[in-house]
Amino acid sequence: MEDRKKEGRYGRIYKQLSELVLKSNNTQARMATIIAVLHHKMDYFFWTGYYLIEDGEMTVNSYQGPVACQILEKDKGVCWAAYNRKETVIVEDVHAFPDHIACDARSNSEIVVPLKNKTGEVIGVLDIDSSGKAAFTEVDAHWLEKMLELIYL
Ligand code: SME
Repeated sequence: MEDRKKEGRYGRIYKQLSELVLKSNNTQARMATIIAVLHHKMDYFFWTGYYLIEDGEMTVNSYQGPVACQILEKDKGVCWAAYNRKETVIVEDVHAFPDHIACDARSNSEIVVPLKNKTGEVIGVLDIDSSGKAAFTEVDAHWLEKMLELIYL
């Protein structure tokens, strides 16, 4: 999808989500709502979900899409890279990323955005895979980072 089309779509989704999240103060409910809307409105999202650090392990949380790995081996793959660097990582070709963890062979590109709690501590990540090559750009990074801020409003 072109960046200009993404901008329009993310803008509309953000408006919808900012109203939806106010219906609950529950963090988990907000997280689940955000990925349900994103996954169904962004047609290039193949897998959309969270990995959170639970007892030191990168553990899958709510998600939409095919069954995924439950635990990711420490310090390997894109999710751990984004978590350790505390910044969004965009991978145009997952097959060229060292240590990439392939939960599903159909994924070709990926974006991982750190998830911060109310005090700004990184507690996990939002992970999105696409079957398309180089599907994610800075436009995705900008809007996804903004959407995660809705969780702890
Ligand atoms: N590819 C991720 C693992 C999670 S799946 O994509 C759902 C990684 O390398 O961390």
